[in-house]
Amino acid sequence: MKLYIETLGCAMNTRDSEHMISELQKKEGYELTDSPKEADLILINTCSVREKPERKLFSEIGQFAKLKKPNAKIGICGCTASHMGEQIIKKAPQVDFVLGARNVSKITEVIHKPKAVEVSIDYDDSAYVYDIARNTGVKALLNISIGCDKKCAYCIVPHTRGKEISIPLELLLNEARKLVDNGVKEIMLLGQNVNNYGVRFTSPHPEINFTQLLNQMAKIDGLERIRFTSPHPLHMNDEFLEEFASNPKVCKSIHIPLQSGSSKVLKAMRRGYTKEWYLNRIEKLKSLVPNVGISTDIIVGFPTEEDSDFQDTLDVLEQVRFDTLYSFVYSPRPHTESATWSKDLEVPQNVASQRLAILQNRHKEILKEDSQKELGKEHIVLIENHKQSQNEVFSEGRSDNGRLVRIENEFLSLGSMVRVKIIATNGGSLIGQSV
Ligand code: SAH
Ligand code: SF4
Ligand code: F3S
Repeated sequence: MKLYIETLGCAMNTRDSEHMISELQKKEGYELTDSPKEADLILINTCSVREKPERKLFSEIGQFAKLKKPNAKIGICGCTASHMGEQIIKKAPQVDFVLGARNVSKITEVIHKPKAVEVSIDYDDSAYVYDIARNTGVKALLNISIGCDKKCAYCIVPHTRGKEISIPLELLLNEARKLVDNGVKEIMLLGQNVNNYGVRFTSPHPEINFTQLLNQMAKIDGLERIRFTSPHPLHMNDEFLEEFASNPKVCKSIHIPLQSGSSKVLKAMRRGYTKEWYLNRIEKLKSLVPNVGISTDIIVGFPTEEDSDFQDTLDVLEQVRFDTLYSFVYSPRPHTESATWSKDLEVPQNVASQRLAILQNRHKEILKEDSQKELGKEHIVLIENHKQSQNEVFSEGRSDNGRLVRIENEFLSLGSMVRVKIIATNGGSLIGQSV
């Protein structure tokens, strides 16, 4: 039996796909294929954070239905499954089952239940132990919580993934040890709001916070690197920043979602922090870790955003000089607060697109300027990928502070930690040689 799986959206979905793959491999004997034509089961793990990709879903279902084997099943999983539920089957009768983002552990049940719709966001599989997917590689993802308790005015995620529940510490440490035994060197801890870890468990659990979790994880022998995403700027207290700075296994790159640089817009978004708080946290972080790599998410054109608010966003970009920027035009989503606001508050599409272009162009310039400063610097790179063919030899990996480094003409072993000197730059990425 063959499984074809397409994964859209964030790292949470990537992890959920890995969980479904391992359940289907171990319990139902499926093997992965990259051809939907050959598959007996086609899964689309969907994202609903913005409207456009969601709109494409139905044309995609139509295409898969046309090319699939006659008895092959189609399952729609993930966040769009959560919020559309049985509407998906009504609109696309070719779909055999719908499995929500909060119900992943039921994958082996729903494949045997024609037209099953399992999308409850109250379902709790926070203590479910999944098998480890085969071929884990050098890096692995590990969920530390499910759901999100925040109510950001624009965001559909709390409606698709339900309330926040932390995964018990013992379970996380066991999973991490298993991963390390399988050859994993770097673990990325995942959650919508990782630094809120410990807020609520399903069964009684000793009190613990994210800082303490990092500390416990770092004690695992053989685990070289720990990363995490996403922390919330509001919960970045000094204790957390100090642990981040001083724990040698915690990589010195961090995603700090800004969303907007304007305190007025942040308030309308219900983010719970101001421009000043955000900049204060960055200042503290940079004073503790001068070479820290910072990435962010920004939404432009949120309702009520005026030009002066956008200037505040540009000002934060100028001050922080993010290494990576994920930026989007605001997209109204069902079940969110801002989707119910008066049309008068909306920012015209052309204005929003113009602001996005200005933001992205300025960021590109910053990247160019900053990568020049990397010339001659040395980084420890974890080798994640390499190639040796007649025409090409290279190894590739990330520095501790999150930069992609390519080492030309060297075939270095996967999982090794190599000291590399930067000799050239290519856009935001760096080219180096081992020293
Ligand atoms: N938990 C993370 C974000 C998860 S959603 C956080 O708090 O930052 C991933 C990103 O999608 C968000 O950071 C945001 O920038 C973007 N996003 C979410 N809803 C959106 C919307 N309605 N329109 C445009 N972008 C959106
Ligand atoms: Fe969405 Fe806000 Fe939760 Fe992030 S913190 S998932 S943006 S509601
Ligand atoms: Fe992730 Fe998209 Fe869901 S960003 S949480 S897969 S809506």
